[in-house]
Amino acid sequence: MQAVLEKLIHPEFQQSLAELEMLKGVEKKDGILEVKVDFLTFASPVKQQLVQALKEAAGEPVNIVDVTEQRSTQPALGGGALPTVKNVLAVGSGKGGVGKSTVAINIAAALALEGARVGLIDADIYGPSVPPLIGVEQFGVSMRDHRLQPVEKFGLKIMSQGFFMKPTDSIIWRGPKLHGRIELFCTQVEWGELDFMVVDLPPGTGDVALSLSQMVPLGGAVIVSTPQQVAVGVASKAIDAFGKLNVPLLGLVENMSYYSCPGCGQPDNVFGHGGAREVAKNYELPFLGEIPLNSTMMEASEKGMPVVVSHPDSAPARALRRVAQLAAGRLAVAAVAGYDAVYENTLT
Ligand SMILES: Nc1ncnc2c1ncn2[C@@H]1O[C@H](COP(=O)(O)OP(=O)(O)O)[C@@H](O)[C@H]1O
Ligand SMILES: [Mg+2]
Repeated sequence: MQAVLEKLIHPEFQQSLAELEMLKGVEKKDGILEVKVDFLTFASPVKQQLVQALKEAAGEPVNIVDVTEQRSTQPALGGGALPTVKNVLAVGSGKGGVGKSTVAINIAAALALEGARVGLIDADIYGPSVPPLIGVEQFGVSMRDHRLQPVEKFGLKIMSQGFFMKPTDSIIWRGPKLHGRIELFCTQVEWGELDFMVVDLPPGTGDVALSLSQMVPLGGAVIVSTPQQVAVGVASKAIDAFGKLNVPLLGLVENMSYYSCPGCGQPDNVFGHGGAREVAKNYELPFLGEIPLNSTMMEASEKGMPVVVSHPDSAPARALRRVAQLAAGRLAVAAVAGYDAVYENTLT
């Protein structure tokens, strides 16, 4: 039976489960076939598909046991300023106000819900927006053994400049100090072992992305845009900038993509539609999904909760979970088969 199952082809890698060493044990237990599977990433976008294929190929009742071990895009753990993190995933945009922080928090929370150990760095030092979005208002963070303790919420470990300032404070710093702060967040925080670190980058294509890319091997970046032409234009700039920094792009997300009328359910394209999908196509990048403009999303943010936690079955939450899965899937492809394979097999 093991031989039959091992011949199955992974839909994202186009390799067999044997080649990918995904089956970790096939044996009869109390008359039922138990199949231990390593899905390569906690948030595999093709998990259901694989489970279904295994059940069909077995042709008898199967008990699938998930023994996933998250793969790492860090060339060697121990390198870079985040040595205990397996994958660093940056979320960027060319422009502010497109919902980048909201998308970053929801990707992080969605990955945690799938069972991964996840951290979140709010790298927007001038305008930290993570604390209100996660409902944390605190001044100062605790120290233990001379190390900063991240704030824990929704199963995430979080660090933000916002924890060090009052909401009305402003920061006027030059580049070197900014660099120092990013370094502090990477090296002086007690992160522990993490499967993913999600970094919410500041808008634009500036200093912070450069500092970060010099300090840690970035596994990949997700770019957020709204459908308006102007946002789409700056998304193209962000794509160009990440390219110059040699940061692999995992794909594009279109936020506030359409408005779903609560009365009639009809979608309304408030800001136009499909701009980001078009950019993704032009740059031959994966398109990760469309997040509707939605009052549930707004209310969740106002209450300080990621929508994937507060309203897991809402349309934006489902779209955001899919974004997180596709991004995680591509990081796993990159870790196992190399970055070329990420762009060859574009699953959406
Ligand atoms: N899809 C959406 N539907 C409704 N409101 C949204 C959506 N995405 C973001 N928002 C709201 O837009 C505002 C800006 O989002 P934020 O994530 O802080 O943007 P950025 O980090 O790009 O500046 C927030 O109040 C957030 O709640
Ligand atoms: Mg923000």
